[in-house]
Amino acid sequence: MKYDVNQLTLEEKIALLTGINEWQTSSANGKLPQIFVSDGPNGLQMFDENGVRKSATAMPALSLLAQTWDKELAYLDGETIANDAAEKGADILLAPGVNIKRTPLNGRNFEYFSEDPYLSGVLAREFIKGVQSRGIGTSLKHFCGNNREKGRRVQSSEIDERALNEIYYRPFEIALEAKPWTVMCAYNPVNGVYASENKKLLKGVLRDKFGFDGLIVSDWASVQSSYKALKATIDLIMPYNEDTLPNVKAALEKGYITMEEIDTCVTNVLKLIEKVQNANKQINYTKEERHENAVKIAKAGITLLKNEENILPLKDGGNYLVVGDLSKKPIGGLGSAYVQTDYEQKPIKELLQEKLPNAQVGYDKGACACADWAGANRVKLEYAKRCYVEAYGKDAVVVFVSGDTEGESFDRSHIKLKREYEELIENLLKYNKNLIIVVNSASAIDMSDWIDDVKAVVYEGFSGEGTNEALSSILVGETNPSGKLAESFPYDLDDTFTGDYAGDGFVEWYNDSIFVGYRYYERAGIDVLFPFGYGLSYSKFAYSNLKIEQTDKTDFTVSYDITNTSDVDGAEVSQVYVKDVFSMVVRPEQELKGFEKTFLKAGETKTVSVKLDFRSFAYYSTALDRWHAENGVFEIRIGASSQDIRLVGKVNIELEDDEQQSQAFVYYNN
Ligand code: GLC
Repeated sequence: MKYDVNQLTLEEKIALLTGINEWQTSSANGKLPQIFVSDGPNGLQMFDENGVRKSATAMPALSLLAQTWDKELAYLDGETIANDAAEKGADILLAPGVNIKRTPLNGRNFEYFSEDPYLSGVLAREFIKGVQSRGIGTSLKHFCGNNREKGRRVQSSEIDERALNEIYYRPFEIALEAKPWTVMCAYNPVNGVYASENKKLLKGVLRDKFGFDGLIVSDWASVQSSYKALKATIDLIMPYNEDTLPNVKAALEKGYITMEEIDTCVTNVLKLIEKVQNANKQINYTKEERHENAVKIAKAGITLLKNEENILPLKDGGNYLVVGDLSKKPIGGLGSAYVQTDYEQKPIKELLQEKLPNAQVGYDKGACACADWAGANRVKLEYAKRCYVEAYGKDAVVVFVSGDTEGESFDRSHIKLKREYEELIENLLKYNKNLIIVVNSASAIDMSDWIDDVKAVVYEGFSGEGTNEALSSILVGETNPSGKLAESFPYDLDDTFTGDYAGDGFVEWYNDSIFVGYRYYERAGIDVLFPFGYGLSYSKFAYSNLKIEQTDKTDFTVSYDITNTSDVDGAEVSQVYVKDVFSMVVRPEQELKGFEKTFLKAGETKTVSVKLDFRSFAYYSTALDRWHAENGVFEIRIGASSQDIRLVGKVNIELEDDEQQSQAFVYYNN
């Protein structure tokens, strides 16, 4: 190693275990280079010396990236953000977040991938590879059980071992395959011990079980006692913590912490400094190309949820009205993942007019006039009426709406649209039935009050600075939508397991255990508005010719054909679910264990191949304290969504008897 822990005095060592400010590590009295860390998952959030945000490429939120189901785009996303980081002098990007979307109320769902651990882990892994390919480090976060914002600094997530291993650890375990330079602990306690002091979590699971050999950084101001965090193998306490020096020195004198434990943490910081110094930071995209990458990802993730009478794509020569401010300036999420971009988007009305030169495309502000609908004075009422008069007789009205604000440190209070947007839709329907609703939100929305009355719904998500270019391209059919939902959309918040219960402020019991998202709805027999993995295209796809080849005891190669039966080129996300038909423990109806996104020209057929292995069949046995696959029959289900299974095959797992437990009974996991 280039830097030797013995070069440092005790004070220098301890100073190295916390920042010197929000974003930098100590130089140990000039003996060491400093590391500069920066948020975030949706683009670079960096501040200048006056605390003013620097401009960077506002990429789509990770929730939108997840809707692309595209591993290559996940890599491209990370690579693009790393370009900004390299250009602006950041060494480590504090991303990606892989916390599971256990409740649609969570304010930070826009920063995370999915309700499913496999989809989350695989896309995070590719994102990390993309970032680190440019010589920029990452911070896989927040480990673990940070699944809502309410009470995040105090409320303990009480999670059983199966749920921890199968749901909450799992995305981290998969993403660690990309060897992130750092992992960030969560704010919250897990089973009664703060994540920052939870040695079982940080050393027992992350380091010893999963083999993580990088640096563990605390979430910002998440450390309660510095020496306890260091003993739990946190290596870097961020940001600068004035208690760290006195706290650690006193603990050392009392024998609560040893010099060896301190040196281990210091050595991990020195290793990271060396990694940063040796990194070959490379910029490979111009600013314009980074913007184009943002547009490309947005195009692939924006999801078409309804398209009655094929009202979309819009036709040149049509007579349309665009309604709502969000068509000019789409919203994103707030908090550490916010990105300040200097890119000025053209309004949708303008972009549609450019793309449909023979169409008539009008614009009206819409919503705000309706906000005052009930108490409107005469002028505002007239304004509101103008919106409806404008809408009357149009071939279609494209209405931009959103739910509650989403961001860090708070949760949504409901999952419906903002009231004025529900009223806007209600009122517009009196004047025109051909409504196309564009939802500028990043987590599930309860659309049950209006979904049956409108002709089309486009889930725009938080798609970054390329939103309007991507959306307008989809609306006119230049781009064939190919996004699919990475979280279930319930009919009603009460249909979710947690509903509006958010713990008692001190403890939240994860009594849903492994039954999260579609795993819950399917087991509870609750219908959802739109299922996990659902999304429409302008194309149609047929599935055929399922073949399953066993290549080892629990290894299989699954292959199947997909045909684009339409006359429009498009892309299809096919999903591979595995069902353990009979088991000694209760298991979900099915679990996602593979997926591919396949681009198909009109009429084209391609063969898709997905590999399954031991972990595709195993569950986490708390009796054996390991992953365990039981002998017996498993269904292999190929779906266009979790609820649209197109092909089903069966395999038998037949492991040696000494790898199996005696069975007194079996669950039928239907
Ligand atoms: C925040 C977030 C974390 C972020 C860090 C630095 O509180 O929880 O995701 O990277 O602090 O802003």
